[in-house]
This record gives sequence, structure tokens and C-alpha cells, in this order.
Amino acid sequence: VDVIGVDIGGSGVKAAVVDVAAGVLITERLRESTPRPATPDAVCDVVGALVERVGAGAPAGAGDMSRSPVGCTIPSVVTDGVVRTAANIDDGWIGARAAARLGELLDRPVTVLNDADAAGIAEVRFGAARGVDGTVVVLTLGTGIGSALFRDGVLVPNTEFGHAQLHGDSAERWAAASVRKAQELSWAEWAGRLSEYLDHLVLLVRPRRIVLGGGVSRRAEKFLPLLEVDPDVEVVPAALANAAGIVGAAMAAAEAVGRIDVPGFTVDGSP
Ligand code: BGC
Repeated sequence: VDVIGVDIGGSGVKAAVVDVAAGVLITERLRESTPRPATPDAVCDVVGALVERVGAGAPAGAGDMSRSPVGCTIPSVVTDGVVRTAANIDDGWIGARAAARLGELLDRPVTVLNDADAAGIAEVRFGAARGVDGTVVVLTLGTGIGSALFRDGVLVPNTEFGHAQLHGDSAERWAAASVRKAQELSWAEWAGRLSEYLDHLVLLVRPRRIVLGGGVSRRAEKFLPLLEVDPDVEVVPAALANAAGIVGAAMAAAEAVGRIDVPGFTVDGSP
């Protein structure tokens, strides 16, 4: 089952064709810079162009990609296909009927969901949280901090643990991967901040496992050994790295048209 996945991030928009049964990209992953300002008009244009390009690049066996469903992430709370928050994207997105709008633009079914929820869905099915029962949190460490909460593999959509309060502000302003770069923190300094944040998260939801994703997960050896977190909580790097959002988005789209089952994912974003 081949579906197009798109991942809208704070710095880049990425897309590929995904084999959702295997959880792998079957085309090259194409990337464009996120337009600035990242208004709905500007971002939708980029998504449209990327979907066309990845569809055209699909292998012959993939079938006609010009009508294939599209799953698209956004770094926001999404309910009923409508974007509700905009922490690291233009405020113009708030209230945007993203699924309907992209569906019209691309002339096919489009499913829109939170970026971290998408990454989490992929990690639970194919990656570092596969087969783990109990409470699992998948975090994406990037421009902000995204979260996906699972109980026995079932998603609780739209959690916003990056906005838990730490030092008087959203925790992501203290511990996101972007903060390490912006404030030129050493790996040890950043690991200290991340430990403090993870401690807080453990206090709030007591997960059995925390999966750390986002681009920085590729450099896990730099900071994972430096983390100090309750030893009863397993902290592991994500397995799908920068493909997780795309894979999860495609899975959500396939679920929405009835081709696969994603426990806990609903098109309207409700639990
Ligand atoms: C947003 C989340 C998003 C996360 C990662 C946060 O600022 O509020 O919805 O998942 O950034 O992009």
C-alpha cells in the first residue's frame, strides 16, 4: 500500500512515497525550506509542488500516485482537520481548515495530524516503541518539543508536553534541540536541561519508555549517555530518525481511507 507522506517542520517541508505496510520510504525523501513567514498560502504551495514531484518519482510498481491519499503533518494541535495552535509556525494557521484546503488543492483525500503524533505512530509500529505495552512517550526534539502519548500502543492524540512549564515558560524554550544551537550549549549542558525536562515528564505521566526523536536523535551518542533520568524509565533513541514523520503521516492517511489500522488515530483528532 503506497501513500504519500508530507512532514511540515519549522525549517523544512519533507515528502516521500511510503510503503505503509513495511514502514519504509520507496522514493527519495525530497525537502524544501519552510517558507518565511510560514503562512498557509506559502506552505500549501510548497506542499503541492512536493507532492507532485514525489508522485512523479514513484517506482512503476507503486501504481498511479496522482490520486493516492496524502498524509500531512503540521507542528500544531489538529482536531477535525482544523489547525488549532501555532507555536513554531505562522499564526495565520490557527483556525485553518488544513485537511479540506489541501484536499482541494491536491484533488484527493488528505489527512492532517500533529507532527509528533505522526512520528510516534511510526515509532510504535515500526521503530523504537514497537511491541512496548504500558505508557510510552515519543518526543521530537527539533525547533520545539513535540510529544506523542501511547497506552498499550494506542495513541492519545494532541498531547503538548513540549509546553509543560519549566523555568516560567514552555519547556521547549529551555530544552528543544534548537535551543542548544541558538545558545551554543555544550552537549553536556543541553543533556542537563533535557534531563531536567525528562524528570518533569516522568513526574507527570510515568512512562515505561521515552523515545527521543527529531533530527538530533541521529547524534544520540553525544547526549544519551549524559542523561540522568530515573533508571526505571527506559530512554531510547528513535529508530526512524527523519523518516518517522513522513511514515506516520502516510499511515494516518491510509488509516483514514480504511487501508490499515492505526490504534487511537482518528481523522478528527479526538481521543
Ligand atoms: C507544538 C507541537 C509540535 C512541536 C514539535 C510545538 O511547539 O506546539 O504541536 O508537535 O512543537 O514540532
